[in-house]
This record gives sequence, C-alpha cells and structure tokens, in this order.
Amino acid sequence: MSKLLVCGGAGFIGSTFARQRVREHGDEVTVLDKLTYAGREENLRDLAEDPRLRFLRGAIEDREAVDAAIAAAAPEAIVNFAAETHVDRSIAEPDAFVTTHALGTYVLLEAAREHGLRYVQVSTDEVYGSIEQGTFTEESPLRPSSPYSATKCAADLLVQSYFHTYGLPAVIVRGSNNYGPYQYPEKLIPLMILNALHGDRLPVYGDGMQVRNWIHSTDFARAIGHVLQHGAAGEVYNAGGPDEEANIFVVRRIIELTGASQELIEHVADRPGHDRRYSLSSEKVRALGWSPQVRFEEGLEQTVAWYRDNGWWWQPIRSGDYRSYYERQYGRALG
Ligand SMILES: NC(=O)c1ccc[n+]([C@@H]2O[C@H](COP(=O)([O-])OP(=O)(O)OC[C@H]3O[C@@H](n4cnc5c(N)ncnc54)[C@H](O)[C@@H]3O)[C@@H](O)[C@H]2O)c1
Repeated sequence: MSKLLVCGGAGFIGSTFARQRVREHGDEVTVLDKLTYAGREENLRDLAEDPRLRFLRGAIEDREAVDAAIAAAAPEAIVNFAAETHVDRSIAEPDAFVTTHALGTYVLLEAAREHGLRYVQVSTDEVYGSIEQGTFTEESPLRPSSPYSATKCAADLLVQSYFHTYGLPAVIVRGSNNYGPYQYPEKLIPLMILNALHGDRLPVYGDGMQVRNWIHSTDFARAIGHVLQHGAAGEVYNAGGPDEEANIFVVRRIIELTGASQELIEHVADRPGHDRRYSLSSEKVRALGWSPQVRFEEGLEQTVAWYRDNGWWWQPIRSGDYRSYYERQYGRALG
C-alpha cells in the first residue's frame, strides 16, 4: 500500500489508474486535476464515497495548487497523466499544450525534487513519430509530428534532465493508442461508437489506412503501476498493445457491433501531418513482468457495450460544448 498523487486523474486513463490503485492495491490516491473539458469528476463517481480517494481541483502549472496537494496527500510518488490529449485541438490551439506539458511538468518536477518523491511521467508513442515498417524501441529517436507530440517530448526531456542533473528518481512510460470506458468522444473509437449508435455519419480521415497499436486502458494503467513499483530510475518503458489495426477496419467493426449501416462512413480531408502508423516494442516492460491482457477484438466489443449501457456518462457531453467542437472540426452538426 502506498500514497500517490495522481495528476490528471479525472481523465480517461488517469481515472482508470486511480480505480486500479485504490481497489486492487489499497493505495491512498489523491487526484489533482484542472478539470478541462476532458476531465470529469463523473469518471471517479464509483469511488466518490471511498475514503482512500481524495479529489482536488487544480492545475499542475500552479505551484501553490501542487504544494497544497502534496501537503494533503503526503505522497511517496507523483504519477503525472495531466495533459491536453487531442492532436486535432493541438493543431487548432496549441497554447494549452505548451503550458500543461512544458510548464506543468516542470512545476511537478520541482515539487518532486524538493519533497524527495519518486516521479512517473505518462507519455505516448507519438513522441517517436510515424513508422511504416518495424517497431519503435525506447532507443528510437524522438521525431514528433504535431504540437501535441512535440510538447509531450518537451515534458519527457525535462523529466530525463531532472534524473541526470538532480538524481530525481523519475521514470517515463510511453503508451500506444488507448481505448476503453470513459474516453472522451472526440477520440476515434468513442466518436465512432456514439455516432453509430445515433445514426450520425462516421467521419474517417483520408483513406482510413492509418494503423494504430491499440491497448486497452486497463492494460496501460497496469503497465504504469508496474513501472511505478518495479521500474529503474532514469529509464523509459514502452507499453504497446497486443494488436495493430487500421482505422477503417476499426470503424467497420464498430458498425457491425452496433448494427449501424456501412453507408454512414464518410471519408473526410485528412488531418495535416497525420502519422501513418505507430508501433511499439514492449520487450523492456515485459521483462519486468507486465504483459497486456486484453486482445483488441474482445476489448472493442466490451467497449461498445459499455458506451451502449452508460448513457448517463456521455449524454451530458453530447449535449454540451462537444457539439460545437464537433461542428467546427467536421463542418457538420451531430444529429
Ligand atoms: N489516450 C491515449 O491514447 C494515450 C496514449 C498514450 C499516452 N497517453 C497519455 O496518457 C495521459 C492521459 O491521457 P488521457 O487519454 O487519459 O487524457 P484525457 O484528456 O482523458 O485526460 C487528461 C486529464 O488531464 C487533466 N488536465 C489537463 N490539463 C491539466 C493541467 N494543466 N493541470 C491538471 N490537470 C490537467 C484533464 O482535466 C483530464 O482530466 C496523457 O499524458 C496522454 O498524453 C494517452
């Protein structure tokens, strides 16, 4: 059992991690989250009465908020999920990406250094850029393509500098594309599931042949917990999912699982600088004893069922600001 400060713990993967740590490890978890459009206390609703979970609203770039969270949590480690996570939004409005990823990570690292805390940075395969063939290892060069991935690189480099310069016991975990319950519907899989359930068009970027290495959020959250406990300070660990799939095949499978019509597919102009393929080698974290448990076919079916059964979670999103975001992004209103 340990005490953790989980930054960004009201988001999709952070809330999954908080749930696992409280329920499966008996940890005391303090969540510090700014509650941007993507952060929602509803993501932690099932833990609201649990005394092992504390929620604090605040931004990681705000040193006072971070100090107050550390004072309340008395943590042994900081696990940082806090991020702006949508590539399309980073192309339209990069400011918040720079603030949260560069400045926010710096503030957390300073706090970790001052208080002598272990530090885990949650990162992404997108820092390596696109790979047509083969797979990225932790030694692959960083070649980010978007303001999202470039600022995630900035955060990773800061973390590594704090290990090398100050000896901060920090580790980085880079995940591949996640899917699962509680993912904000701007992302491919929940977007397509909810549009399919509503009979809305399914906007597929370009030819839809962009390949992603899908990992279920419970598997990625477990990889992060595993590295927190067993990872060596100063190291980077990739955690990729067991399956790769092109976007268009994911969309077709969602159509089958929801019983929607193939006619709903609409190819739209591709995202500028869209990476073609991501692929991660996870040998290093597997050697520590982690391996993904959920195959994509089974995980996707469960995810479709979760969205179908949990309208309480997505109805407020689909009737709120998300509608205007969607209209701006795709030039078409949701039905
Ligand atoms: N979703 C993926 O496919 C994926 C894959 C690999 C890595 N990651 C990484 O995992 C982490 C979590 O991603 P997610 O998909 O759960 O994202 P998300 O957008 O669902 O959640 C991000 C959370 O961070 C919070 N946040 C944002 N800015 C903040 C700030 N300045 N201070 C405090 N809180 C702030 C938001 O309110 C939200 O709760 C991110 O660091 C992301 O880069 C995501």
